[in-house]
Amino acid sequence: MSEKEGTISALMTEDRRYAPAAEFTSHANWSDPEVYQRALGDPEGFWSEMARAIDWFEDWDTVLEWDPPTTKWFLGARVNVSYNCVDRHLKTWRKNKAAIIWEGEPGDTRVLTYQELYREVNRCAAAMRRLGVQKGDRVALYLGMVPELPIAMLACARLGAPHTVVFGGFSPESLRDRIVDCHAKLLVTADGAWRRGKVVDLKGNADRALEGCPSIENVLVVNRVAPPEQASMVEGRDRWWHDEMDASGTDTVEPESLDSEHPLYILYTSGTTGKPKGLLHTTGGYLVGVHTTAKYVFDLKDEDTYWCAADVGWVTGHSYIVYGPLSNGASSIMYEGAPDYPGKNRFWQIIEKYRANILYTAPTAIRAFMKWGAEHPAGHDLSSLRLLGTVGEPINPEAWVWYRDNIGSGRTPVVDTWWQTETGMTLITPLPGMTVLKPGSATFPFPGVEADIVDEAGESVPLGGGGYLVLKRPWPAMARTIWGDAERWYDQYWSQFPGIYFTGDGAKRDEDGYFWLLGRVDDVLNVAGHRIGTMEVESALVSHPSVAEAAVIGINHEIKGQAIGAFVTLRGDQAASPELITELKLHVGEKIGPIARPDTLIPTGELPKTRSGKIMRRLLRDVAEGRVVGDTTTLQDPGVLDAIKDKYEETE
Ligand code: PRX
Repeated sequence: MSEKEGTISALMTEDRRYAPAAEFTSHANWSDPEVYQRALGDPEGFWSEMARAIDWFEDWDTVLEWDPPTTKWFLGARVNVSYNCVDRHLKTWRKNKAAIIWEGEPGDTRVLTYQELYREVNRCAAAMRRLGVQKGDRVALYLGMVPELPIAMLACARLGAPHTVVFGGFSPESLRDRIVDCHAKLLVTADGAWRRGKVVDLKGNADRALEGCPSIENVLVVNRVAPPEQASMVEGRDRWWHDEMDASGTDTVEPESLDSEHPLYILYTSGTTGKPKGLLHTTGGYLVGVHTTAKYVFDLKDEDTYWCAADVGWVTGHSYIVYGPLSNGASSIMYEGAPDYPGKNRFWQIIEKYRANILYTAPTAIRAFMKWGAEHPAGHDLSSLRLLGTVGEPINPEAWVWYRDNIGSGRTPVVDTWWQTETGMTLITPLPGMTVLKPGSATFPFPGVEADIVDEAGESVPLGGGGYLVLKRPWPAMARTIWGDAERWYDQYWSQFPGIYFTGDGAKRDEDGYFWLLGRVDDVLNVAGHRIGTMEVESALVSHPSVAEAAVIGINHEIKGQAIGAFVTLRGDQAASPELITELKLHVGEKIGPIARPDTLIPTGELPKTRSGKIMRRLLRDVAEGRVVGDTTTLQDPGVLDAIKDKYEETE
């Protein structure tokens, strides 16, 4: 971490401060810092107070049962997420309020009021039920950013059938692995998705994936990109979404009264092995967590037009496009396509068009906007914006300040929110009505959340120091386990520091107690906000017949945060031709998905290894980032590194 140490020390000397404006504070959902004390003194009391904002069919007997690594919240309560996101708003003036304001990439639009959303969710639930989906069955959703995705999620939640959303950029193999792992019964996909004016062939990918998925009985296909007759439908297996919705007519489906701990969804994410893990989120606690954080972190008001620009395929979309905003009765924008299509001003056009008040996006996007130039946002009226948020990676202070100045007119708060697929909800974040912001810092744990920074021995590190970021108390939206692999759940998160959740992130706290996130301390990369395991990429590479061995590292990258660097040794007398290098990069893309394609791929005679055969990735990182190569005394053959260095410099 030596190079990172240097960067973070420099960050912590950052002396710009942004206190909330009096005008913002006077209207903020929370403005009294007393909430931190109240939550600290009685966390369970605090969370049950927050839980009162949810409509429960039956109350809980016990707030929390905690026996690490097992956690249960609101035991005995009965609840339905779909009911809370849709039905309950129909009893209020929100009935005809916009729930989802959808903008398609080609420029087509669709607005669903809560009443219309109710109708669509019910029709979809009725269709799923006819296709045999029952409480507890798993449903896989492989779609682009179309309204049918939240509709299908809410239909699943209504039935108590856990969904697993698979990001539309994943390959057939990645989709298959996920379906097989959770034995999904139904797949919902589309004939395609729009991305930068081109069609992503979701249906073709799904067909290939389904060659090895015996658990799937039916496929529902949303018609998005071409006339229906152009799609290849498999007789007896595939049905059009629109036909099934028509067949549902005006049918309604009672929301299931579910146990608070009933599974809501499984979401796969990368870890330190080649196999993605399916994090299981449950019903009551998750809903309380995302509802509360959406309301107080984004200062969400009924009048707001809110836009989270993430993809629903990631946890950010689950929690802060679908469940958090809709349970609050918010109007949420959903955009289908790329930020630079057809022009680099697409985001600013959307904000101007809908007079959006809140924007939540990733540092990688902000850095790209910076590079494209301030003239793009400057050409639009962004004065409706009153709050900005970021998530997914550490944000450098320059990008933070640029975002506030150029998008937020130099006046909006910027909430840098730290969290994970595993945590379900934001855990370290400013509260915009009260936190004095420091650009680059995610500031403080949310009320009722106890985060700490510890050393190797699990001892708390004093202010000013750095170490491992841990969470010492359970929070309601935390994942409960890894689907089908309780042992991995324990090993991965609970074995390093007994009784404490280990995040896998490094962090520092400054003298004022502000948290500064340092990135992963394990073999997980964060490429443009996407989590990718080095092992996943390595296994994809060695599955190619020309590759004998591979080592994958993250390389600092101006826009993406990290880029993927791969070092491979080829089999036998394979020549390292430019064609083969391209083929290997594409091969990884086909195996996992284009997001995992290495940026740099260096063929090398040998990899640097210790005498016991362990690949020393640290040294490869030194080479790739042009640093003086660190301690090589444990290397089996120190000459190897010089050869790699020469190769690397040649390639660069
Ligand atoms: O390393 C942290 C980084 O993203 C990881 C979680 O990735 P994922 O599960 O894909 O969820 C991303 C969206 C919630 C974390 O372990 N990360 C996320 N947010 C931040 C961050 N790093 C620094 N600052 C953040 N605000």
